[in-house]
Amino acid sequence: MTTRVLTGVTTTGTPHLGNYVGAIRPAIAASYQDGTEGFFFLADFHALVKCDDPARVARSRLEMAAIWLAAGLDPERVTIYRQSDIPEITELNWLLTCVTAKGLMNRAHAYKASTDINEAAGEETDHGITMGLFCYPVLMTADILMFNAHQVPVGRDQAQHLEMARDIAQRFNYLFGQGKELFVLPEAKISDEIALLPGLDGRKMSKSYDNTIPLFQGGAKGLQEAIAKIVTDSRMPGEAKDPDSNSLITLYAAFANAEETAAFRAELVAGLGWGVAKRRLFERIEQEIGPMRERYEALIANPEKIEATLQKGAAKARAIAAPFLATLRQAVGLGSFTAVPISSNTVEIAKSTLPIFKQYREADGQFYFKLNAADGRLLLQSQGFEHGKDAGQWVSRLKQDGGALVDAPIQLADGISREEVIAALALFQTAE
Ligand code: TRP
Repeated sequence: MTTRVLTGVTTTGTPHLGNYVGAIRPAIAASYQDGTEGFFFLADFHALVKCDDPARVARSRLEMAAIWLAAGLDPERVTIYRQSDIPEITELNWLLTCVTAKGLMNRAHAYKASTDINEAAGEETDHGITMGLFCYPVLMTADILMFNAHQVPVGRDQAQHLEMARDIAQRFNYLFGQGKELFVLPEAKISDEIALLPGLDGRKMSKSYDNTIPLFQGGAKGLQEAIAKIVTDSRMPGEAKDPDSNSLITLYAAFANAEETAAFRAELVAGLGWGVAKRRLFERIEQEIGPMRERYEALIANPEKIEATLQKGAAKARAIAAPFLATLRQAVGLGSFTAVPISSNTVEIAKSTLPIFKQYREADGQFYFKLNAADGRLLLQSQGFEHGKDAGQWVSRLKQDGGALVDAPIQLADGISREEVIAALALFQTAE
């Protein structure tokens, strides 16, 4: 079976060398692996969450497309498309929104970071927060589930979004799959490398530190000028250098093999001047980046060529998305009137398979609750509470929102997974 690998980039900024080494290059390399089927897309709907400057979004999505193609992504081999060209994704987004617990979104790191800032500033909790930001993880889930991706390479900051995607997929499968897995549960492939490339000042290369090296902007000259700004000490040529006192070696290593890097390091120790060393680094990077820059510039000068490539990609993607969406519509009850009706007693089935909470008091005088599956298996067991009311409150919280499980003072029964319990709890919300 082929493994589907899917990843998206938000089209707001312009990638720098750190993005190239950390994300673009490894993703392209992975796309040439046998047994994988790649999906790459420009997350331009996500861009609208972060940016309300149309010119910037438009520019960024064109540049991103050109960069990926120039860097070697092969549109014949992988499916490359713009998110906004696939209407099925936004439709799926709604189907998923309807099974996503609001409480799950409340716990999203990106949303919480914004509310924390507001609270610290004495503003209202949700000041300046759009529904786009709040629901961002659902749209991302739709991106992934639309193509039933097995693996999603992302940075560590996106790990929680993948957890959420799995939760949502599981809930949907449980509610509408009638025993079948409609959605594959996607796995995050976390790459810590993304954070590793240092910038001019030795800290992680990042726009927010203003220490980046541009990928193509400014041409070879721009690259050379940025490299000249790498912070070094004032040792003179001939004096022994500490190769680890700045980011030169790490940057070099990202473009050279171990042997070459070791030789460069030895030369620095032997007294190579910083100026010459920077020249070497520039040449090394330019060797890889230069030909790409040429392709990039040719592409940018011919936007109609990129447009045609993306249109083709969209057609390929929709050939998969459209029939799958039809299945999903059918599963939730939105199929054609002439299609074979699916059983009308889904809700009754759900009721008869509802798990059961039991609250009780032990000889120690404490109050407890436990949850049994409809088939009688023990799913979880609470800790003791001094007051029965507290146990009761947890029971109703869990019934309302399975996501509350992460904070609940409970223990899962042996051999029971958190996913299984969340899926069971989801039934309480649909059974009303
Ligand atoms: N949220 C991702 C980011 O900011 C971009 C993204 C959107 C994405 N949809 C996705 C990544 C689906 C992987 C899969 O980096």
